[in-house]
Amino acid sequence: MTVELLPPIVSSLKPSNHPYLNGAWTPLMQEVDATDLKVIEGAIPTDIDGVYLRNTENQVHQPLGRFHPFDGDAMIHQIEFKGGHANYRNRFVRTRCFQAEQEAGGSLWGGLADPVTTALRPGYGAHGALKDNSSTDIVVHAGKAFSTFYQCGEGYRLDPLTLETLGVEGWVPIDGVSAHARVDEATGEMMFFNYSKSAPYMHYGVVDRDNRLTTYIPIPLPGPRLPHDMAFTEHYSILNDLPVFWDAELLKRNIHAVRLHEGVASRFAIVPRHGGVIRWFEAAPTYVLHWLNAYEEGDEIVLDGYFQEDPMPRPHKGAPAGFEHMMAYLDEHSFRSKLHRWRFNLTDGTTTEEHLDERIMEFGMINQRFAGRKYRYAFSTVSQPGWFLFTGFVKTDLETRKSTEYLLPPGRYASEAPFAPRIGGVAEDDGYLVSFITDENTGTSECVLLDARDIAAGPVCRIALPHKLCSGTHSCWADRAQLG
Ligand SMILES: [Fe+2]
Repeated sequence: MTVELLPPIVSSLKPSNHPYLNGAWTPLMQEVDATDLKVIEGAIPTDIDGVYLRNTENQVHQPLGRFHPFDGDAMIHQIEFKGGHANYRNRFVRTRCFQAEQEAGGSLWGGLADPVTTALRPGYGAHGALKDNSSTDIVVHAGKAFSTFYQCGEGYRLDPLTLETLGVEGWVPIDGVSAHARVDEATGEMMFFNYSKSAPYMHYGVVDRDNRLTTYIPIPLPGPRLPHDMAFTEHYSILNDLPVFWDAELLKRNIHAVRLHEGVASRFAIVPRHGGVIRWFEAAPTYVLHWLNAYEEGDEIVLDGYFQEDPMPRPHKGAPAGFEHMMAYLDEHSFRSKLHRWRFNLTDGTTTEEHLDERIMEFGMINQRFAGRKYRYAFSTVSQPGWFLFTGFVKTDLETRKSTEYLLPPGRYASEAPFAPRIGGVAEDDGYLVSFITDENTGTSECVLLDARDIAAGPVCRIALPHKLCSGTHSCWADRAQLG
């Protein structure tokens, strides 16, 4: 392995006892290019060719107020596979806000847990006082990587191989683009949404395979909402209006307090992909961070995602003092997210729904070739109770409802693990799950590959990374043919 260090960035972050600035969440300030990575165990498969990209909320500066892990700056970690070899690199996304704070030498914006008055400059997104850190999600569309911010930022394009920031995406509307733009590999289109505090409160759009905005329509809502993700089928997109959103009275005083609105149903908008009549369906109250997939079956739209049984959890008793509220909302075991299926009947307008698995899981992945189509396999993550730390993976066979799992040894934490199809693979699960591991026992990080046909067998390969990564959030796999 050869490692080339880039010139250091400016950081003002000081040591603290914050649970999400230490341990596996310790921010990394180093940017490197590493070639010909060393294999710790097994052999790098020769039958995958592409990149795994992961976004990370990697805080660079001393917070002005109370730090929340969703405030961190975007760092993209990439591992590239070809011919049984692997290279690694990582880069901060050079957002406008990152550049401004580099010039200032410190934080200019407050975070999610701060009052709006903390910001020293006008902010971005639906909230309006936050830094557009572009650190939530990453997808590959029209040959380029696209990083996004969950509060609806500008959206940044990056070269998926060099990780050079190419700049703000030109078609992004004034209300921004939320995290979880969704790419349909079959058509090359990317579906997206945004939300705001101004009527109609939500918009939905489509960008074609040549990166032209072809659809942009309002999805009128009763007021400001906080959707996080969307889903699509072959002909429809699915947007949501869930009963967890800012308290309207407090919002009049510019206080952003999220709460469950008791007695309010969940609502789902079924929208023809390129616009048309919106059909609304009601369902049991919940909040859903992430959808897994959706498809059409007869008269029904089938939607799978992670239903939260307790979307407004009580403060976490075991958390360090002062962090009880924040830690409860970051803990799957507090909000109790379970794989769930909604069926929306387009003929009679009814909704039926059921849990698909009683395990607490989230952050699911599928073979993206089956996105929007009937599919069979879900790959979810499980987490350490009390923490936003992934400790293993569950493969659910949605036909037999049977599942298998691979749990990491103590002290090892995974990242979201997208599915990398095997070259020439046809079967839905013929490929690998790719994940970065941070090992708190050794203070090192590695990349692991699991055979998606048999995840319980454990990693087929472990590859050493040149430095210890901070835990991150969303990720994607892109075959080389998808990289422009
Ligand atoms: Fe997300």
